[in-house]
Amino acid sequence: KYLGIIFDLDGVLCSTDEYHYEAWKAIAEEIDINNFTPKDNNRQRGVSRMESLEILLEKSERKFTDKEKLILADKKNQRYKELLNNINSFDLSDEVRVALNTLRKAGIKLAIGSSSKNAGLILERLGLGNFFDVVVDGNSITKSKPNPEVFLKAAQMIGLQPSQCLVVEDAISGIEAGTAGGFDTAGIGGVMSYPKTTYPLRDFSQIMNIVFAN
Ligand code: BG6
Ligand code: MG
Repeated sequence: KYLGIIFDLDGVLCSTDEYHYEAWKAIAEEIDINNFTPKDNNRQRGVSRMESLEILLEKSERKFTDKEKLILADKKNQRYKELLNNINSFDLSDEVRVALNTLRKAGIKLAIGSSSKNAGLILERLGLGNFFDVVVDGNSITKSKPNPEVFLKAAQMIGLQPSQCLVVEDAISGIEAGTAGGFDTAGIGGVMSYPKTTYPLRDFSQIMNIVFAN
């Protein structure tokens, strides 16, 4: 049934989510928000950089102009990119590496569907720069998750219908996007028990069971 898999990147193939948190927390403190928590950061999963900033600014009493917002987002991205320098191919877990290679050998189309504008850089650092059949990221979409655009575009580019692809996600916005696009979803971490998640993934290697059993 599943001839293609569309993977989210942050929080699915690698744990950049911790770097996002650290970089946003530094920005929060600069503008006197001292109660920015991992729970707030969880709501930023899957949504674009500017939407993530809006979630952070909900905690401020001040109003920010569009120009100020762009400066804050840019600052966050600079800090985040410094942190991304820590990533190398050892950050790709054996579990993920084995699953990707096994699926590739079985002829399954493999794509990335990420909201991040840094996806290319991260894939490069993980040693996956040329691995995926298709990469659709924050640079090539106009609406970020929960809008299904990123996944629909990826499915179209690998030449498959949504019903033929599995979407792998760690974010509520991503499960919503997949569902809205007509995809079945596999949920990692916090979204394992989300009602709209088709398959909970306790560990990454279960993707192979799902794909080969269906
Ligand atoms: C998503 C992350 O993958 O990318 C979000 O889950 C992040 O938290 C978004 O805001 C945009 O990332 P970037 O790298 O373009 O700032
Ligand atoms: Mg994610």
